Amino acid sequence: MADRLFTKVLVTGGAGFIGANFVHYALRVHPAWELVVLDKLTYAGNLANLAGVMDRIRFVKGDIASAADVAGAMAGCDAVVNFAAESHVDRSLVDSHPFLRTNVEGTLVLLTAARELGVRRFLQISTDEIYGDLAGHDGRSREDDAARPRSPYAATKAAAEHLAFAFHTSYGLDVVVTRGSNNFGPYQYPEKIIPLFITNAIDGKPLPLYNDGSAVRDYMHVEDHCAGIDLVLHEGRTGTAYNLGAGAETSGVAVAEAILKALGRGRELITFVADRPGHDYRYAMDVTRAEALGWRRRHNFADGLAATVRWYRDNEPWWRQVKQKLEYVRHEQSWYKPRP
Ligand SMILES: NC(=O)c1ccc[n+]([C@@H]2O[C@H](COP(=O)([O-])OP(=O)(O)OC[C@H]3O[C@@H](n4cnc5c(N)ncnc54)[C@H](O)[C@@H]3O)[C@@H](O)[C@H]2O)c1
Repeated sequence: MADRLFTKVLVTGGAGFIGANFVHYALRVHPAWELVVLDKLTYAGNLANLAGVMDRIRFVKGDIASAADVAGAMAGCDAVVNFAAESHVDRSLVDSHPFLRTNVEGTLVLLTAARELGVRRFLQISTDEIYGDLAGHDGRSREDDAARPRSPYAATKAAAEHLAFAFHTSYGLDVVVTRGSNNFGPYQYPEKIIPLFITNAIDGKPLPLYNDGSAVRDYMHVEDHCAGIDLVLHEGRTGTAYNLGAGAETSGVAVAEAILKALGRGRELITFVADRPGHDYRYAMDVTRAEALGWRRRHNFADGLAATVRWYRDNEPWWRQVKQKLEYVRHEQSWYKPRP
């Protein structure tokens, strides 16, 4: 990989699921990097995700929507990778305000600081959800397709991307964007489908599937995502978006069945619940552009899922501690409703 010779990199949201995986990945692949992690430690942020590497990074507890916090963390950095976000669609349907503040305003604060501080490259982490629902189509979203976000979460992520590209066009900031599909792997907060189903299945609790469980997602192992992000950071063309997905469309029912089988549990744990409002039934992306850059995935869904099930089995204290917290219990108890 032709290295742009970044020496000091700011990773925002590095105590969350993908951000923490990226920190571990970057410390392996770029051992000479100085890494600064800026994270507000919301309900989804967890310093336990960075256990074992805290002495190799500088951790700053702070808010990407605070210019003072950002200035302190970004000083001297030559690259920024912005993972920090409110990331859960269901929560955005309950209250969109934190999503607007962090995902949109926070990104604007980061972009402004990056411009002022002469950061050499800004990578905005985005999502396939900005393309909207592909149900009823055979095709896959390409990077130049229009953004048609349908959930408040996706709308704020699309807005953040637009701001990033606007800073490229208007001010010449070197910006690249990655659009990842649904990730899974270690350290994922158990409100998201795969860790929710694994941990519920371990405990013999119901696996809640929206409506008939037919909604399809393109599940990608987080390590493949991290490798793609690193590649785009180094090799991506400025002002350009890159789709990063696994190219394997799997329904919710198929995910539940695979997890139940891996854990030796029966199908009776599957529970169909009231649909998510505005539910998108299919995402699928064309990843030719990232592959042309040299991106190759190492995991397929089956082996990635087996490794992930093993990780949650081996790390029970990690997820039990998260699931015991009032914040988790409150969301779980208030969200899922019986199917009419
Ligand atoms: N999880 C997925 O499947 C997926 C897929 C594609 C893209 N993404 C994107 O990847 C990024 C990371 O997602 P994730 O699943 O790891 O999310 P996550 O919810 O697990 O982690 C988000 C992290 O951001 C931190 N954070 C939130 N608000 C902040 C703020 N105002 N200032 C500083 N830190 C703040 C949280 O404390 C947490 O550590 C997000 O931008 C998300 O939109 C996620």
